[in-house]
Amino acid sequence: MKIAIGSDHAGFQLKEKLKKYLIEKGFELKDFGTYSEDRADYPDFAHPVALSVTNKEVDFGLLMCGTGNGINMTANKHKGIRAALCWNSEVAALARRHNDANILTLPARCINEQEAKDCVDAFFSATFEGGRHIERVNKI
Ligand code: RB5
Repeated sequence: MKIAIGSDHAGFQLKEKLKKYLIEKGFELKDFGTYSEDRADYPDFAHPVALSVTNKEVDFGLLMCGTGNGINMTANKHKGIRAALCWNSEVAALARRHNDANILTLPARCINEQEAKDCVDAFFSATFEGGRHIERVNKI
C-alpha cells in the first residue's frame, strides 16, 4: 500500500516516527514534508498530499498538525477527499468502514505516539463496508 504523508512543524516529530513505523510494516511512503521543526504552514502540506490521493498516485494520505484541524480542513477542500480527524482506533476504523475516508488526520499535540500508531493500524487495516453507507458518502 502506498501512502502520501505530510505535516506542519507541530506534526513533524510524529510524522517521522510514523514513517519509520509504516516502512517497517511494508508500506511505501511519499513524504511531502515538512522536513524540520521550523515553523511551517499546514496548507503547504495538506494540498500536495490531497492531490496525490485524488490523482491516484497513492492509495491513501496521512496528515498531522497540532490539533489536526487546520490540515484536515485544508485537505477536505479537495473534491473527492474524505479526510477524517481521528484520535483513537475506534474512530479511525469507523472512518474507513463507514465514511470511506481516504486520508487519516491525526492531532499530533493531543494524542501520544501509541495512540497515533493504534489509529494508523486501525485505519489502514479496515475496509469500507459499502451497503447503507454508500448513499451517505455519495451525498457528501
Ligand atoms: C501550529 O502552531 C498549529 O496551529 C497547527 O499545527 C494546527 O494545530 C492548526 O490547526
